Amino acid sequence: MAQTTQMKPRPVKALKYEELPGLSKDQLTPHHDVLYVGYVKKADQIQERLSEIESAAQGVNATYHELRELKMEETFATNGVRLHEAYFENLTPGGNPPAGRIKDLLERDYGSVENWLNCLRNDGMAARGWVVLAYDFEDNRLQTYISDVHNQGGVWNCMTLLVLDVYEHAYFVDYKTGRKDYIETFIKNIDWAEVNARVERCGSAIR
Ligand SMILES: [Fe+2]
Repeated sequence: MAQTTQMKPRPVKALKYEELPGLSKDQLTPHHDVLYVGYVKKADQIQERLSEIESAAQGVNATYHELRELKMEETFATNGVRLHEAYFENLTPGGNPPAGRIKDLLERDYGSVENWLNCLRNDGMAARGWVVLAYDFEDNRLQTYISDVHNQGGVWNCMTLLVLDVYEHAYFVDYKTGRKDYIETFIKNIDWAEVNARVERCGSAIR
C-alpha cells in the first residue's frame, strides 16, 4: 500500500483590483476567478494523486502511464498557477515608473528602459502564451524569454521578474484581435514597485 501524504490546498491569491485602465472587470475577473483558480485546483488534485502513486507505481512507461501523465501535467498546472500569479501581481491601476535596481538592470542589459519595452512589444507579438522578464543566474543578466505553453520554453535557474500573458483569453473580451493595443495597456499598468520587490528578494544573488 502506497504511503499517502496529507496535501494542504494551495492558497488562492486574490485579484488586487477589479479593473485597470484599459482592462475591464469582464476581462479580468473570469481570467482570475475561472482560469487561474482552475489551475490552482488542478495543481492540488495532481499533487494529491501523485502522493498516492509516485513512489509505488508499477510498470511505469514513457509512452503512456498514469504517473507520466501526472508528472507532465504537474509542471503544466504549477506553472499555470505561478505565471498567472506573477502576471496579476505585476499590474496595478495606472502603473508606476520603473525605478531603483530594475531600472539600473534594464539600462545595463538593454541600453535603456525604452529599448527593453520595444523588446517586450515584439516578444509579446512573437509569443503564443507568455513573455517573461527574468534574471538569469547563469548569464548574470536580465533575459526576456517567451513560452508557448506553461511547461515549455522556460529556462531553469532564473528568477521571474515580470510576466505578460498573451494568450487570447487575456485580452479578447476587451481587444478582440488587437494584441498590440493590449500590450500597450499592459505596459501602462505595470507595477514596477512589485518588479523591484522581486529583485530585492534575490538579495546579492542579482548583481
Ligand atoms: Fe492567462
